[in-house]
Amino acid sequence: MKFRAPLVLATLVFLAASCRTEKHEEPGFHELVPAHDRNAAPNVVELDLVAKETDLEVVPGVRSHLWTYNDQFPGPLIEANVGDTLIVHFRNELPVATTIHWHGLRIPDAMDGVTMMTAPVEPGGSFEYQFTLPDAGMFWYHPHVSTDKELPRGLYGAIVVHGPGEPSVSATRTLVFSDAMFRGDGSIGVGGGMMSDMDGFEGSSLLVNGRLAESTILPIRAGEIQRWRLVNAAGARYLDLSLPGHTFHVIGTDGGLLQEPYDTDRLLIVPGQRYDLLVRGTGTPGSDVALKSLPHDRGQMNTEASHTLATLRYSNATPLAAASFPVVSRAIEALPTGAPERMFDITDAGMSFAINGEQWPNVTTTQISLGADEVWTLKNDSHMDHPFHLHGQFFQPFEKDGVALPRREWHDTVNVPMSSTVKVAVRHGNPGMWMFHCHILTHADNGMAGMIDVQPAP
Ligand code: C2O
Ligand code: CU
Repeated sequence: MKFRAPLVLATLVFLAASCRTEKHEEPGFHELVPAHDRNAAPNVVELDLVAKETDLEVVPGVRSHLWTYNDQFPGPLIEANVGDTLIVHFRNELPVATTIHWHGLRIPDAMDGVTMMTAPVEPGGSFEYQFTLPDAGMFWYHPHVSTDKELPRGLYGAIVVHGPGEPSVSATRTLVFSDAMFRGDGSIGVGGGMMSDMDGFEGSSLLVNGRLAESTILPIRAGEIQRWRLVNAAGARYLDLSLPGHTFHVIGTDGGLLQEPYDTDRLLIVPGQRYDLLVRGTGTPGSDVALKSLPHDRGQMNTEASHTLATLRYSNATPLAAASFPVVSRAIEALPTGAPERMFDITDAGMSFAINGEQWPNVTTTQISLGADEVWTLKNDSHMDHPFHLHGQFFQPFEKDGVALPRREWHDTVNVPMSSTVKVAVRHGNPGMWMFHCHILTHADNGMAGMIDVQPAP
């Protein structure tokens, strides 16, 4: 055997060398890369974000030409505490104009990344975003210029704002779900045909933190309780989560922690939404369980299939003793459900995506008094579901098709199912010009958007 040792050694050296040049990673869990905070002050998070073209190997053997923030896909994870000031020095090195929208953050409208308020950042240009973080929860960022063409190339990232009352658990996983179309020649598909404009563009590869769903493994120990913070950053894809043999203990939504957590076997997360869950490892040591997204009929022409988003992999360690979920509770003031009503009629006759018969950007801005409570009646007169998103404020969905919803949750994005009416209570506490739109990106970019102007009463 002795004479074979050099060969074995040579093989090992070769393998080690080739591993180093591999860009894609082995199956496993890819943690988001945290942003570099270059400010030492405790209450300031200051960072650079550069939007640029970056080649990365996500699909083994293919160098995909993505658009990224800081060469990272998804963009860096921004973490801060509630009340902190966030300063982002943004530079645009893309060949097109762009902005950053801070989805869900109740910040001044001049920082919201909407081109009605501030000019887009031209190629080679820069912009400084600066604001305080008013709420704890999970949020995300993405462009707000031709969003349907820019976001699917890779421009999105997560923001976690820590606050009081968070549960302490052994592991917290921040999971950015999305999809992309990686073509063999390295280009990224962004749709563009009639069909994908109508349905919303769904990339063929499902992604978790920018890595292929099929190679994503979430390690867990039997009996362990983990916290999962999820965002659906896909441009159109609905995620109807199921983890066989497990229940999701939902502790928070778009706007932070719930008053009363609840258990569910299925969790629908529409584009733009976030959920905060506790998951107990009820499986057996050594087993694998698929985290599935089950088919959801949102009225699209392409029929939906079931997908595996990740594999929950149990270690062989002996199960931990059963522990109860840490108590999570935060008082949520009930907004009045009898406030003056405002109607939003959502239609998509043919390719005419409209709200109240108007198509962005030719819309009438609705004037609203600062501090006003309103009930928004979101009436979907189309044959597709639409995830309705409002900038600048949260709201409380409280009724669907005349039936009261079971719990009080803060959202900035809510699904309005086809041929249904959802009522949400809004308090217009944040002055400014705010967009609302469908978060199926091709719908918004084809007109399904509107604008309110919240100002102190004269
Ligand atoms: Cu996440 Cu106006 O968007
Ligand atoms: Cu829509």
